[in-house]
Parts: sequence; structure tokens; C-alpha cells
Amino acid sequence: MANFLKEMVRTEPHTLEEIKVSLDKDMADHKQFVPLLREHHNYLEESISVLMDNETTDFQKQEHLERFFHILEMHGKAEQEVLYNHLKANDAREVRLEGFGGQDEHDIAFQLEAELVKMGYKTEWNEEIEAKAKVLAGLVKKHIKEEEDVMFPIATSHMTEEELEDMRDSYIQKCTGYLINSRAEEIYSGTWNKDNFSDKSTDTIHH
Ligand SMILES: [Fe+2]
Ligand SMILES: [Fe+2]
Repeated sequence: MANFLKEMVRTEPHTLEEIKVSLDKDMADHKQFVPLLREHHNYLEESISVLMDNETTDFQKQEHLERFFHILEMHGKAEQEVLYNHLKANDAREVRLEGFGGQDEHDIAFQLEAELVKMGYKTEWNEEIEAKAKVLAGLVKKHIKEEEDVMFPIATSHMTEEELEDMRDSYIQKCTGYLINSRAEEIYSGTWNKDNFSDKSTDTIHH
């Protein structure tokens, strides 16, 4: 089956290994910066939908929260270090405000992540944890929509093609680093349950 058809019919979330491979490919293909950010939002949304769905099991939520943290660390940290820092230094006030506002929302998301880690979500799952995970998922969902509808169009209208290309390269390099050495990786090393997802190669990312 052609690759694009596979993408259209797949229902399982992308594994961390697949995401790592896609980063290498996106660098080689010179994928544009904003479509790349959108693709990474889609990876996050694959777990957001599970975390916000009352019908999914506790186990599925627990597994997805771990996956979500890995991708949130990768995308969120790389995005703020590359894109937000650029926005905050821009000459135009509306651009700087987007950068500062985005950073505040990231700070809140990472604070909720830290609280969930402290609550030991990996070894136990209760209603408090489930509620907090749902709040975090909802916040990130809203944040993603705001970025795609407002921030990205403002950013692209104030930046040159060359700036966007430089940011793309630097973003991909940082993503690769975070995916392999993220804080989440340190916290959860060896605990990723590869059996929950169809691609068994996921565990290679932990070596
Ligand atoms: Fe963001
Ligand atoms: Fe984002």
C-alpha cells in the first residue's frame, strides 16, 4: 500500500521510534517549519484524544500519558527554545506578545507534568491523577489550536524564508536531542511498555 494511504488508514499512535525516524527524514527532505510543527501537534493529539475520552481504560490513559510526556518534552522544549525565543526578540509588539504568552502556557503545562510525575502516575492511577491528566490534555489541545490559528500565521508573516529554514533545522536538532535525552526519558527510562503499541521497535529509543 502506498505510504500516504497507510497514513490515512492508520489508527494506532506513532511510536517514539517512528517519530525519531521522521525527524531524520524531515531534515533530509527540508520539510517546511510550520507543517513540521503541525505534524508534531498531531502526534500530541493522538494521546490527547485518549486522555480526554471517558471511555478509554485506565491502563490506556496511563500508557498514553507517558507517551504524551515524551512528545511534550520534545516538541515543547524545542519549540520554545527556537520559535518562542525568536518571537520574543521580534521588533513587532504583537509578535513578542505571542512568544511571551506561548511560554506562559508551556510553563503551566510543564508544571502539571511535574505534579503528575510526583503523584506517581506510573505506578498507580486514581481519580485525582485522571482529572489532572485531563486538564493538562485540554490545556495543550487549546494551546495547539491557538498556535495553529493565530501564532503561526503571525510568525510566518514577520519572518523571512531563510529565518524559517534556519529555525526548522535548529528545531529538528533539538527535537532529536530531547527525544533521546529528555527529562521524561530520565524519569521513565526503562518503563515504556512497548507491548501496548503495534511497533515493537519503540524500545530501541531507550538504548
Ligand atoms: Fe507551544
Ligand atoms: Fe506547538
